[in-house]
Amino acid sequence: MNHPMGPKKNIDWGSLSFSYLKTDYRFEATCVDGVWSKGQVVESEVMTLHEGAPALHYGQSCFEGLKAQTAKDGRILLFRPELNNQRMQESAERLLMPKVPTELFMEGVEAVIRANLAWIPPYGSGASFYLRPFLIGSGENLGLRPAKEYTFRVFASPVGPYYKSGGLKMISLAVIDVDRAAPLGTGGYKIGANYSGGLMATKIAQSLGANEALYLDPKERRYLEEAGSANIILALKGKRFATPKSPSILPSVTRRSIVTLAEKELGFSVEERPIDFIAEHGEIEEMGACGTAAVLSPIGKVLINDHWYKVGQDSEHPGPIMLDLYNRLTALQRGERPDPYGWTYEVKLT
Ligand SMILES: Cc1ncc(COP(=O)(O)O)c(C=O)c1O
Repeated sequence: MNHPMGPKKNIDWGSLSFSYLKTDYRFEATCVDGVWSKGQVVESEVMTLHEGAPALHYGQSCFEGLKAQTAKDGRILLFRPELNNQRMQESAERLLMPKVPTELFMEGVEAVIRANLAWIPPYGSGASFYLRPFLIGSGENLGLRPAKEYTFRVFASPVGPYYKSGGLKMISLAVIDVDRAAPLGTGGYKIGANYSGGLMATKIAQSLGANEALYLDPKERRYLEEAGSANIILALKGKRFATPKSPSILPSVTRRSIVTLAEKELGFSVEERPIDFIAEHGEIEEMGACGTAAVLSPIGKVLINDHWYKVGQDSEHPGPIMLDLYNRLTALQRGERPDPYGWTYEVKLT
């Protein structure tokens, strides 16, 4: 099938997983002494880094993830990219890095889309185009101090579903004895170090038969935090919708959007508060993990203290509330319904 902007790559879009596929172009800019260079589109996927770069030794790095989708009429849509830019600025500030200016962030994201149009999955393929902006301390350094030079880069890859079960399938989560965040740590920021520390948790959770780790609050190990790469949402009895409140949870763009949909379109009363899963288990009708990559994955069971808790009436199939929210969210993201919220952003193709 040909895109209005040119032919597409010969890819079986429907069988893509969430993994790296090399596209033709990426975008890069550098910041020295607080001054950003003009960004440019580059071909090589390989970066040359100074061996002393603080990103390599001290994890001075942060990143974002957002998706572009092809609408039925061929428009390329982003979903609330300004929130990714804002979150990246907050991460940068926390790690004493220069903020990527909004114009540069958007220039990078849009340039990578325009340069790689042939790689953007067509409408209806079920796949999407995942963009990965990141910012690293890249200059020469030895002691524990911020870098003198920074690199901002955006690359992208066409992707399929994040969890192996795929699409809107039930997933399971496991709480294990590994924390992702510290009470006054960096859990609320999208920084590289949070994720390297979580690799082991994911591995253990998967060895126990779960798709992903579920974290509890690091202070009391009692309240729900989030999954390895997704926030948690719950539909409770009595038309209540709940999501954990904690400073060490990543403020998910998807979760904030779903909460708005649940409140404004489905008439739920929303509670953002500490949630004790074991104490409130009987109140839970449905539960989901949400994020750019995970979209909305309904959760069927949760492993805590060697006990698998089934969630809701039917832990084998997606429930009507998560299904409804999934459909409303993805229809917005693909431009299939009017967007009263101003969340979709049309990429300038010329
Ligand atoms: C730890 C973590 N929580 C939540 C999310 C979901 O956030 P978003 O909806 O902004 O993608 C992500 C993915 O970005 C994540 O890595």
